Amino acid sequence: MDLFQQGTTIPTKYKNLTMEEMENRVKKLKEKFGDKLFIPAHHYQKDEVVQFADATGDSLQLAQLCEKNDQAAFIVFCGVHFMAETADMLTKEEQTVLLPDLRAGCSLADTANIEQTERCWETLQQTFGDTVIPLTYVNSTAAIKQFVGKNGGATVTSSNAKKIITWAFTQKERILFLPDQHLGRNISYDLGIPLNKMAVWNQSTNAFEFDGNIEDAKVILWKGQCSVHENFTVENIEQVRKDYPGINVLVHPECPYETVAKSDYAGSTSYIIRMIEEAPSESKWAIGTEMNLVQRLIQAHPDKEIISLNPHLCPCMTMNRIDLAHLLWSIESIETEEYKHVIKVDKKTTEYAKLALNRMLEHV
Ligand code: 13P
Ligand code: SF4
Repeated sequence: MDLFQQGTTIPTKYKNLTMEEMENRVKKLKEKFGDKLFIPAHHYQKDEVVQFADATGDSLQLAQLCEKNDQAAFIVFCGVHFMAETADMLTKEEQTVLLPDLRAGCSLADTANIEQTERCWETLQQTFGDTVIPLTYVNSTAAIKQFVGKNGGATVTSSNAKKIITWAFTQKERILFLPDQHLGRNISYDLGIPLNKMAVWNQSTNAFEFDGNIEDAKVILWKGQCSVHENFTVENIEQVRKDYPGINVLVHPECPYETVAKSDYAGSTSYIIRMIEEAPSESKWAIGTEMNLVQRLIQAHPDKEIISLNPHLCPCMTMNRIDLAHLLWSIESIETEEYKHVIKVDKKTTEYAKLALNRMLEHV
């Protein structure tokens, strides 16, 4: 895609504005649009954007909020592309979802495309027959969600993966879990499935990675991972435990299995926030997740000692694409009716993807 032709490059005039000028303009436009404009922001967004959010949340909460909101004609989604797609699919036809910067993708979602998924499924059908149900983390394209919906499966988020995997095993003997191998492995292990019953599907070689008889596999994990969370390691945990005796290690389940196994707690972004809010004063925490959220927690809880689990704080480059200038550009584009940038999933994809999303929403 030629990003310039798509109108993705922000006009220079925005680069010359001060923060104060941008803040004043956003405030005015928010007042002007009132309930007609809804701005949800993921917990990983920058403070300069979060200050204007009508709601913040993890990916499940944001999806639910968008589904419930039938007043907003425009939803300016401060998050990444798959979240805006989900919002579009869960809202009414006449509601418009905008993503302030089209370059806000997700390295994890990018590890699975529909052609690779169809190839994998063909091999799974040949190998296991009709014994597999597909599940996809919401961090995936609408096309993958559509594939999963069509084949009887559901989406999951990090806050409901346990429930949905449990449900999936009432439907079929095996699951295919896309695209985050770490989340799939961590949650399946928590549910009592041993590692030697989990195979990895390598989408680059079109082959299983598994020691033993493949028929013993209960969980087939897509070989995808998040470029942010894969950077939290066992060595990081050993280091913080040495440097800060008594520290609690709290990580997101997108971290590798070995990291999660050595941590004290693991859960979604909302779970991480709740744990810190409920922690006693003076307690010490090393958090393994995206840096905007860790920094916000550090600022909000000066009575607790909070550090990033990885001293080279891990930013999500794509979440960080949404800055105040892009937010302003997006909202002003509503005024001029030159919308930047509309996220619209076609009807057919939406129909099946919604089956997968609704199966998830029914169980949470
Ligand atoms: P949450 O659902 O926990 O908010 O996670 C979303 C995400 O992209 C984490 O990397
Ligand atoms: Fe995607 Fe990872 Fe960024 Fe979450 S933190 S949006 S999974 S790249």
